[in-house]
Amino acid sequence: MTTPVKQRRILSGIQPSGGLHLGNYFAMMNPMIESQEKGLLFCFIVNLHAMTTVREGKVLRQGTLDAAMDFLALGLNPDKSIFWVQSDVLEVVELTWILSCVTSMGLLERSHSYKDKIERGIIPNHGLFAYPVLMAADILLYQAHIIPVGQDQKQHVEITRDIAERFNYLYGETFVLPEPRIDPHVALVPGIDGQKMSKSYNNTIEIFAEEKDIRKQIKRIVTDSTPVEAPKNPDTCTVFKLYRLFASPEEISELDKMYRKGGMGYGTAKDRLYEKIRDYFKPFREKRSQLAGDKEKVKKILAEGAEKARAVAFPTIEKVRRKTGLAYK
Ligand code: ADP
Ligand code: TRP
Repeated sequence: MTTPVKQRRILSGIQPSGGLHLGNYFAMMNPMIESQEKGLLFCFIVNLHAMTTVREGKVLRQGTLDAAMDFLALGLNPDKSIFWVQSDVLEVVELTWILSCVTSMGLLERSHSYKDKIERGIIPNHGLFAYPVLMAADILLYQAHIIPVGQDQKQHVEITRDIAERFNYLYGETFVLPEPRIDPHVALVPGIDGQKMSKSYNNTIEIFAEEKDIRKQIKRIVTDSTPVEAPKNPDTCTVFKLYRLFASPEEISELDKMYRKGGMGYGTAKDRLYEKIRDYFKPFREKRSQLAGDKEKVKKILAEGAEKARAVAFPTIEKVRRKTGLAYK
């Protein structure tokens, strides 16, 4: 039976492991905020996942509140969605263990994200290896249908489906099989070095950085050495790729022509990009600073969100306890 569109559960999480950036915004935060009207939205801050890399309590605590304030400032409406912090609903940890017991080592060994992290020199711990199982528990506990993410998370959603299928096979139909939702235009937002923008690559433009720091980051965007007079290729230029995310079709076509004609330096394109980013996020900045001045309000919103999330999680975990025999009385 298909679920009516309005009842579809849309769910995604973000790690509070550093300042949220344009890649996070376009691939995950903005689609989530826009989908508030299109289904039942579950949005959460995955502080348990962030523990695989963040080692200081103070940093994790502050990062969690910062991520919450970012989302609320950008338009996430807690009355229209369920917005909480992952560790406030600890049934997810119980489900992680249960799912671990039906997950093969091979499935996790094939995880690109795990292999990439090791290649980048992160010393692997068991949490990092088991990361996709915790993510599967996140998704399955809330019986979510649609998962808006960037390209790099596609495999994690596929692993979730594999785990759900295995559980359903062993214990009978229990979990909904989720689908990733990836917008091809923003699946991979480049960082200032042209690689994927990522908190762990030190190449980000943070949404709520000081305007002068955003300007500095834009100045540092790597471009080629084509002289000012010569025509330039917008399609291979990081400045242009970022500009496209913000500008109207007319503005994009105008800058495209300026690139191809020659006579324009990359500095001009960078100035235009800076103005776009500054103006786009301006209305959200004020809201962000109001929230920063009222942390108690933010904590209250998160506590209410956790209550709502728990009410959804409860029937699922009860069912799982019954089917697995953990509920023995
Ligand atoms: P980071 O790589 O900076 O640590 P996360 O892993 O916390 O980012 O990602 C949070 C969400 O943002 C995920 O859905 C991820 O796919 C998306 N995302 C992160 N960076 C990018 C990017 N450069 N382009 C597109 N999506 C991205
Ligand atoms: N792994 C995701 C990331 O790094 C974050 C995440 C955790 C997530 N649990 C999730 C995303 C559940 C979607 C659904 O970006």
